[in-house]
Amino acid sequence: MHLKPFRLERYFAKYEFTAPFLLCTSDSESMSLGELLAMEPDAERRFQALWLGYTESLGDPELRREIAALYDTVSAEHVLVHAGAEEAIFNFMHVALEPGDHVVVHAPYYQSLGEVALSIGAHVVPWRGDPERGWALEIDDLVPLLTPRTKLVVVNFPHNPTGFLPSAAFVGELAALSKQHGFITFADEVYRGLELDPSRRLPGFVDLDERAVSLGVMSKAYGLAGLRIGWIATHDRELYRKMAAFKDYTTICNSAPSEFLAALALRNAAGIIQRNLEIVRSNLDTLDAFFAEHARWFDWQRPPAGTVAFPRLKGTDVDRFCADLVERAGVLLLPGTLYEPGLNHFRVGYGRRNLPQALNQLASYLATS
Ligand SMILES: Cc1ncc(COP(=O)(O)O)c(C=O)c1O
Repeated sequence: MHLKPFRLERYFAKYEFTAPFLLCTSDSESMSLGELLAMEPDAERRFQALWLGYTESLGDPELRREIAALYDTVSAEHVLVHAGAEEAIFNFMHVALEPGDHVVVHAPYYQSLGEVALSIGAHVVPWRGDPERGWALEIDDLVPLLTPRTKLVVVNFPHNPTGFLPSAAFVGELAALSKQHGFITFADEVYRGLELDPSRRLPGFVDLDERAVSLGVMSKAYGLAGLRIGWIATHDRELYRKMAAFKDYTTICNSAPSEFLAALALRNAAGIIQRNLEIVRSNLDTLDAFFAEHARWFDWQRPPAGTVAFPRLKGTDVDRFCADLVERAGVLLLPGTLYEPGLNHFRVGYGRRNLPQALNQLASYLATS
């Protein structure tokens, strides 16, 4: 196994805790432990009484029940809890793939969704969205990519970095194609719940296809990245059993305080999502106005869901622009080249409350450039 550096994480490692204005983060605004515990009358006392021994390897049963309730056909036995979505991606790829397997990945992609497969010796090909149409994917573009060795199709709805969200009809077609061809669909749904129009929320892929795997996490829609609680949900018993056994070599089991707090948050999910959607809506309005005023610099398309968008920078080289911006104005944007060479786009994140201040800084920078 040879894993290349995770470009986005290396970039964040350099700036995340030093740049004053993070304008490209993908999580929702977080909250304090006290705020979360205040959501239930007795939570503080129960948290204090929590036992800090090893926990159940599959995940706390109560937490797994809360996670299962996010889907229509899932019960606790189909849910396997991990240390963030990141561990779940790593473990899933190692269990599902062998060298020489063929994998199709929705592109541009969050690096680990393709990189782990590559490190195992799989052939990875991109299934690319069309930037001219809100980064929309077409099933007709997927069909010619499939080969008899295609083991896996990886999708990410709502999408990082573009915010693309397909229709329910589209995911129905994809599920039908998966059944017909025999590939597994790995659906990264970590931004699910943050649809601006709630009627556009897609079913979890696990509810559409009995061989599919849905990936979720507390970090994005719930804003609780520091808990490091993620999960997979699948009806495939064999895959589930193998992933549970693989986890014995990664984290064995999860942090008890994090599991307690994640279950508490999920019992109060509606309120937390509502709060995060309010921040997202207000930030998107601010971004619409900002990009309308600075149309000379950027091409902007308002995304339908999630916390990230992927505008195009006109004329100027995006790597140089982002480097100069963070050096001179302390505003961190994520150049698209961290996703794929040649993209003159950048990721902007709109889940955090301080977006208006960060945009003011960016506007001042533009005024002097
Ligand atoms: C699409 C996608 N999948 C998975 C992850 C990993 O989530 P976590 O860092 O909470 O494990 C991220 C984080 O940015 C992501 O954007």
